[in-house]
Amino acid sequence: MPRYEVSCVCVSSFLLSIHNPCCLDPEKRPVGATLTRRSEAGEFKGTGHLVKCHVNNKGGVSDKITPMLGIYLHIPYCKTLCPYCDFVKERSRTNVPEAFVEALCREITAFEGPRVAESVFFGGGTPSLLTAKGLEAIMKALHARFTLDGAEITLEANPDDLSPELVKVWRALGINRVSLGVQSFEERVLRYLGRRHDVGAARRACEWVGNTFDTWSLDLIFGAPPIEAWEATLKEAEAIAPPHISAYNLTYEVGTPFGKRADQAIPDDVALRMFKEADEILGGYDHYEISNYAKPGHQSRHNLIYWHNESYAGFGTGAYSYIEGVRARNAVTTDAYLRNPGEKVESEHIAGDAARLETLIQHFRLEAGMKKAYYQERFGNAVEDDFDSILDVLIARGLLAEDEDRIWPTEEGYYLNNEIGLALIN
Ligand SMILES: C[S@@+](CC[C@H](N)C(=O)[O-])C[C@H]1O[C@@H](n2cnc3c(N)ncnc32)[C@H](O)[C@@H]1O
Ligand code: SF4
Repeated sequence: MPRYEVSCVCVSSFLLSIHNPCCLDPEKRPVGATLTRRSEAGEFKGTGHLVKCHVNNKGGVSDKITPMLGIYLHIPYCKTLCPYCDFVKERSRTNVPEAFVEALCREITAFEGPRVAESVFFGGGTPSLLTAKGLEAIMKALHARFTLDGAEITLEANPDDLSPELVKVWRALGINRVSLGVQSFEERVLRYLGRRHDVGAARRACEWVGNTFDTWSLDLIFGAPPIEAWEATLKEAEAIAPPHISAYNLTYEVGTPFGKRADQAIPDDVALRMFKEADEILGGYDHYEISNYAKPGHQSRHNLIYWHNESYAGFGTGAYSYIEGVRARNAVTTDAYLRNPGEKVESEHIAGDAARLETLIQHFRLEAGMKKAYYQERFGNAVEDDFDSILDVLIARGLLAEDEDRIWPTEEGYYLNNEIGLALIN
């Protein structure tokens, strides 16, 4: 894995490129540069040990002591490939092959590590291409290997795969949260993005999921033309009122067909306007993370594990794990994965300053920021002692604010989140 050397700290490029792809940009970039999409195939956490998490007055996680292990399962198949997407995926005309399900179950069964999991996330690729039989086999393997009492179990779905029957099957098999890749309620935007579904399919999928699940989420993308359609999409999403909404800025990823037309990307000031529009129209939601909005009690528990930089186990093609401070990755092609599920092709120990830095940068993506007592308990030092004057500088610049208990990003710190990361690294 490439690494980015900065001062005396060596920071994994993983954090910077996946969570905040533009934060190495030396220019001052506003929100358009920092609003990122869901991270692929798991992120990172410190250790598998018990971590005490603290409630704060702006939402966040519970006060109970809990082993915060998240489980990420990467299902790398898609019926068609969207031209902007650089997630690990391959084209498949059929449902997820049995051979892949078997490999995934073998990898889960052979896993050595923590036993209690707080969340499971079926991500992709397209997990809604799993057959009921395949999903049942994976759930069985998970329950045999992990204690999942009260766990949040999310499945990512493409609207055109759904039917009222299928969503009921998912619920019966133990899925308790669905994340729906709607992207837009405007036909022209969906066509620009090369999505398979149309607006009608998106609306029907929302209805079926909303009728079946108490908690669910809807993914939206902004920055695709016509940009005037963003307001109507937001208003429709707000009217549908899912408990959770993710709103990502379209990134023109290098190596994808969209990478060749990066000149079509909207300017940063327009991205910032669209970001603020979302903030306004979704005013009834808690804007708890740069790209994420939730009704009370509906924050994504799985993603909070990433943003708190805690442990996760990743299974499937290209999945990352982060356990006991070791970040490791599975084979990135499904052929290689099927030959040896669970074999790690990359591995690095994230220790000391790098772990502290990653943890801080991740927390500053959250409205709630970092609880000082949490940092002290996790790393043994006061956060002010470890980061010293740079926190004062960021507070003086109006990007961070603090009180006795917490340090958190201001509104400006949300817009210029990469600035915070860069300053901390340097
Ligand atoms: C990789 S997809 C997997 C789920 C499902 N296959 C789908 O497309 O909805 C997860 C989410 O990532 C987001 N995403 C993927 N590529 C993106 C990009 N280049 N820019 C912004 N968001 C992106 C989309 O919002 C999508 O809903
Ligand atoms: S369906 Fe989802 S995972 Fe598949 S190519 Fe499109 S955005 Fe990527």
